[in-house]
Amino acid sequence: MSDELSLSPEPEPDDLLVEASLRPKTLAEFVGQPRVREQLELVLEGARRRGTPPDHVLLSGPPGLGKTSLSMIIAAELGAQIRLTSGPALERPGDLAAMLSNLSPGDVLFIDEIHRIARPAEEMLYLAMEDFRVDIVVGKGPGATSIPLDIAPFTLVGATTRAGALTGPLRDRFGFTAHMEFYEPEDLEKVLRRAAKILGIDLRPDGAAEIAARSRGTPRIANRLLRRVRDYAEVRADGAVTRSVARAALAVYDVDELGLDRLDRAVLSALVRSFNGGPVGISTLAVAVGEEPSTVEEVCEPYLVRAGMLARTPRGRVATAAAWAHLGATPPPGSPAGGPAALF
Ligand SMILES: Nc1ncnc2c1ncn2[C@@H]1O[C@H](COP(=O)(O)OP(=O)(O)OP(=O)(O)O)[C@@H](O)[C@H]1O
Ligand SMILES: [Mg+2]
Repeated sequence: MSDELSLSPEPEPDDLLVEASLRPKTLAEFVGQPRVREQLELVLEGARRRGTPPDHVLLSGPPGLGKTSLSMIIAAELGAQIRLTSGPALERPGDLAAMLSNLSPGDVLFIDEIHRIARPAEEMLYLAMEDFRVDIVVGKGPGATSIPLDIAPFTLVGATTRAGALTGPLRDRFGFTAHMEFYEPEDLEKVLRRAAKILGIDLRPDGAAEIAARSRGTPRIANRLLRRVRDYAEVRADGAVTRSVARAALAVYDVDELGLDRLDRAVLSALVRSFNGGPVGISTLAVAVGEEPSTVEEVCEPYLVRAGMLARTPRGRVATAAAWAHLGATPPPGSPAGGPAALF
């Protein structure tokens, strides 16, 4: 796995090196997500006119779609400072109390992976979000007292890849929830053009279209593929990223026309060839390809489902007719249709 090009939407070490420079800085620079952008514009403009911090914002959606970028944009658009932390970092309520009591009026507090916040910190957050107050507990046992402390009015921006894992009381305290969707290919082309300009890559329109189609609806993956294709273009061609260069480069990295990698294809192939299209349980399928069930479930499956190749049924995973066709096999009668039509 290690020497391959990863198609996981989670950041790889070399993504992190360039992401800071590739992050859009303003709402206008933020490509795609038209609904989220319009809603957010209204929320921010309303707050600006009233001269108060906007409602707390929850950003939910799969990895690599721009939640962290958007949180920084919210702060920038408000002309506010942003403080960054994450759910796992807030294990003890004292950690959160320290952050909250250091806020200046109007600051944006960004909590990444907010669904992983520990319960006592979460409870402290309720009061902070609602009344801009924290109760600091001093001492232990029966002698413990709590001291109420006012904190500066702030805006909490929470990001989560698993909105369903948030507790009701926490979810209810956000005034605005933005659901990030996978990007359309045309939007990914814009993301790629912008990144190419920043990185000084000679990206041609047909090359951009080819990379966008294989990027799994995810800007982070689009930018990663662009960098790998650029290597190929510089080493094996004249540096220009055209369609044929992109195709040749991505063939080297085993990324097919639909953006499926070797593991995705192994999963589909096992489903079709070893289990005659299913239904089969996820753990059986994982054993068949020699992977952890969680890898198959969290890395491969979401995109295979979205690409219309695999369906989840109560009895297990089923290959769609499109999956059989993608592997060059004839689907048995009764296979669900699926296919790229189900893509967007
Ligand atoms: N709308 C966009 N326009 C341009 N580039 C984008 C956009 N969204 C994301 N990107 C690019 O993708 C990279 C990853 O985005 P970001 O880190 O904001 O995703 P995320 O949703 O926070 O991911 P994670 O869930 O892994 O934290 C950014 O550095 C940026 O290069
Ligand atoms: Mg992020």
